[in-house]
Amino acid sequence: MLTLPAAATEGLFIGLLSGTSHDAIDAALLEIKGHHFRLLAHRSHALSDSLQERIERLSLGLDNDIRQMMNLDVLLARSFASAANHLIRQAGVNADDIDAIGSHGQTLLHQPQSDTPWSLQIGDPNIIAENTGITTVADFRRRDLAAGGQGAPLTPAFHHWAFSSDDRNIAVVNIGGISNLSWLENSSRPAIGFDCGPGNTLLDAWNRQHRQTSYDHNGEWAASGTSHAPLLQSCLQDSFFRQAAPKSSGPDYFNLQWLNKHLKALQAALSPADVQATLAELTAVSIHRAMIDNHLDAEHIYFCGGGVHNRHLMSLLAQQCAPVAVSTTAALGLHPDWVEAAAFAWLASRTLAQRSGNPPAATGAAHEVVLGGVYYGATRP
Ligand SMILES: Nc1ncnc2c1ncn2[C@@H]1O[C@H](COP(=O)(O)OP(=O)(O)OP(=O)(O)O)[C@@H](O)[C@H]1O
Ligand SMILES: [Mg+2]
Repeated sequence: MLTLPAAATEGLFIGLLSGTSHDAIDAALLEIKGHHFRLLAHRSHALSDSLQERIERLSLGLDNDIRQMMNLDVLLARSFASAANHLIRQAGVNADDIDAIGSHGQTLLHQPQSDTPWSLQIGDPNIIAENTGITTVADFRRRDLAAGGQGAPLTPAFHHWAFSSDDRNIAVVNIGGISNLSWLENSSRPAIGFDCGPGNTLLDAWNRQHRQTSYDHNGEWAASGTSHAPLLQSCLQDSFFRQAAPKSSGPDYFNLQWLNKHLKALQAALSPADVQATLAELTAVSIHRAMIDNHLDAEHIYFCGGGVHNRHLMSLLAQQCAPVAVSTTAALGLHPDWVEAAAFAWLASRTLAQRSGNPPAATGAAHEVVLGGVYYGATRP
């Protein structure tokens, strides 16, 4: 069980994250005081097209060269450091005043279910510490894996700390590349959480293949199509959706190859817009089913992550989840775009205080562990 400290480490912490969609680096500056936090500044730091393409090629196995990966490890680290330095300037604070950076890095592959479970995040924290002068905590997932967990999802621990309350049951659902759910019953019960399935990753990949834009803006293309029931049913037959928690996944599993397998088996001619409509429904239905299958009787569901900007998807989710009220985490005081980056700022504070950061009830780890490695900055240990 995650034991909450009476007073967490206080100070200023930066969270850095490039998610599974590798659309941009999210950077958030969090002030933590006891059990309270304030988002002081945030930034979406662009990743060049060439970096995005190289991440994609490595994560899909189209490139397998270690030299390519190590080169990207350095280039991404420079971008992470630059994101932090820009954020600090933007916030008008001194680097010396920042206690630590929590850098999630960029996941290339996530294989928690193999005989030798592993998860690979790149963006060398040595370079981040050197280029910012700030102590950097990184490599958050592998200690949880070593303790028998999936190394993911980690954010339920932060969702629990930041959003749980004693008087109602709520769910927080992040719709990034993959969707993941945190179930928050009350502040003394541990956070349960798991990945529900594809969030935006299939929507983005299908959209890119057919329209050469990075995502389906507001879900307008999906809204122009008609969901195809046999394709939806075929996708939902995947064993991941029925698998009991703990479970986690990534775009190395839910990708165009996975989709094409289902399309091929159907032997029906579908318009690309109808496929997009079906994928939007798959995201909404798989999130709702995860709630039902796990008997999670929420009073309110709060969404975060880039998926909240997809109007069509959000309206499907509202329909699916009715009569349960849905809104975004803005209603809980944190803008949905910055929840995940804020989580890694908080996780850095936990590590520096030598406190556990993993939620075993979500990852399946045998016990709580202090996550990550610490790379000391220039000015302080
Ligand atoms: N206006 C919009 N309309 C439709 N989709 C949007 C819009 N804005 C963002 N998105 C979606 O959100 C995605 C980015 O979301 P986010 O940054 O939360 O994901 P991520 O980087 O993969 O994070 P995670 O690590 O949580 O998976 C985009 O790839 C896109 O699919
Ligand atoms: Mg992102």
